Amino acid sequence: MLKVGVLTGGGDCPGLNAVIRAVVRRAEQHQFEVMGIRDGWRGLEEPTGRTMRLSRESTSGILHVGGTILGTSRTNPFKKPDGGETVLRNIKELGLGAVIAVGGEDTLGVANKLFDLGAKVVGVPKTIDNDLSGTDFTFGFDTAVSICTEAIDRLHSTAESHQRVMVCEVMGRHAGWIATHAGIAGGADAILVPEIPANLDEVCEHVKRRHARGKYFSIVVVAEGAKLAAGQLPPAKLDEFGHERLGGIGQLVADEIEKRTGFETRVTVLGHVQRGGSPTAHDRVLATRYGVFACDLVQKGDFGKMAALHGNEIVAVPLAEAVRELKTIDRDLYSLASVFFG
Ligand code: F6P
Repeated sequence: MLKVGVLTGGGDCPGLNAVIRAVVRRAEQHQFEVMGIRDGWRGLEEPTGRTMRLSRESTSGILHVGGTILGTSRTNPFKKPDGGETVLRNIKELGLGAVIAVGGEDTLGVANKLFDLGAKVVGVPKTIDNDLSGTDFTFGFDTAVSICTEAIDRLHSTAESHQRVMVCEVMGRHAGWIATHAGIAGGADAILVPEIPANLDEVCEHVKRRHARGKYFSIVVVAEGAKLAAGQLPPAKLDEFGHERLGGIGQLVADEIEKRTGFETRVTVLGHVQRGGSPTAHDRVLATRYGVFACDLVQKGDFGKMAALHGNEIVAVPLAEAVRELKTIDRDLYSLASVFFG
């Protein structure tokens, strides 16, 4: 009986358990045994105490549960000398005929390198950031956008009551997918993303235009990795010892809006709330489709591939293609969002 290892790596993401359950259920039909590997790639670096047999029973009732029953880590075996060889040796010693790695760019980057070294790996695309190439959407993204949209809706009512500008900082270190989608869904008056350096004068103009029209509140959505255009950075704040005080971009943008417009401004950083809790129905379906498809790739012996969503079809794309470069935002969508600024 083929023994398949499954691991979840990188930041956790709603829908990971749905993938694990789908892999196990499909594996049962293919008559594979499934071994859960704990803590991402660390589990294949140091497997002692980090493996668990996964069955229909042990994965029952987890479809809607956030996080991952396997745990996760940001371990990169290739950071250590002979790390890749260690993982290959452990795969062999554990008797794994294939490994399904569920992760984003970093986790699947490791999978791709291991495939090049001869490992039989298959990938499943995960990240709330949606910045992985090769697929239209990663699972977890829809949940994060829903959480942010609900938060923006809530900020709206308090912003209006107090006549304030509300800056909402969302996740997205390298790409502004969450900010753009949640900004459109929540009716943001400005959206700042890493891909398009922002001009704060323009942002303030949007806010002032609204005031001039009698709208005394505004919502500004800022991705945590948002960049400001050259010359837009205010002088760094220094502490009593003269050290630069680092603050989040949301706080910085809020301070500048208040200073430049005179309007009272508040900041909300959504942080890890965006990654926690139950996946949306959309993400449960997508994660389930990915899990079943990944298991089918193993059954066909089609390794070095990632399950991907193209339109409404799940297809196989080479891992190498998925990890070649980050998928940045769709400029047309951002420009659509900007129709509603100010
Ligand atoms: O990669 C997903 C992500 O949630 C990013 O949006 C965020 O910048 C990062 O992980 C946070 O990582 P950590 O949980 O390790 O602080």
